Amino acid sequence: MGTLPGRNVIRMAIATICASLQSSSSNDTVMSAIEAELRTQGWDPRRVAGLERIPPFRPDIDPPNEVTAWAGQLDAAEGVAIATPEYAAGPPGALKNALDWLVGLSTIYRKPVVVVCAGTTGGAFTIEALVRTLSYQGALTVGTLGVEGIRTKLGVDGAVTDPTLLNDLAALAGRLVDGVRADDPERFRLVAPIVRPHGIDPARFGLVT
Ligand SMILES: Cc1cc2nc3c(=O)[nH]c(=O)nc-3n(C[C@H](O)[C@H](O)[C@H](O)COP(=O)(O)O)c2cc1C
Repeated sequence: MGTLPGRNVIRMAIATICASLQSSSSNDTVMSAIEAELRTQGWDPRRVAGLERIPPFRPDIDPPNEVTAWAGQLDAAEGVAIATPEYAAGPPGALKNALDWLVGLSTIYRKPVVVVCAGTTGGAFTIEALVRTLSYQGALTVGTLGVEGIRTKLGVDGAVTDPTLLNDLAALAGRLVDGVRADDPERFRLVAPIVRPHGIDPARFGLVT
């Protein structure tokens, strides 16, 4: 597990990120459903805070406090779940910017990650871009899920009601848990079919097969 210098790391099981910054977010709702499933399975999901405070990435300076505070929450986790919208056929700039800061920190290196993109479409461009970015940082993307027409899958209280979506989110949470528990050969089997279609050779992760 990587650590940030000078930080007091409290180990937590699963870090969850919602990459939508708007106050009423369907991805927030989707992540809440994943968190509920993780709790049911005995895990301790913790929502990562502070994405909106991260300044634009600069490789020529040390990470500012806003970045180390954000990255420290990931550093302490065994696995990461990301729920994100798609904007203009790509991931939100705030998320990509935050991930760029992680280059060199090894914060998510060898960590299992799942990605769900809920929006108008299933967010295929966003999932592809994130799988590439996460893979280049050494993270192990073990599951992805695109959710189209998300607003039609929420009830009047805003929670996820669509039974198929609830099943899919539970399965995604299960894949993350499987990834966290797995040894290297099993991690390779989980990650390979996810990353290969996006042009990533799973051999890059150096997992013993
Ligand atoms: C400026 C803008 C661009 C968008 N571009 C896309 C897009 O390329 N693909 C897509 O599926 N949805 C797109 N959407 C729709 C959002 O993904 C959708 O509103 C989603 O629910 C936002 O996530 P949130 O509810 O978690 O904030 C766009 C929305 C906005 C405001």
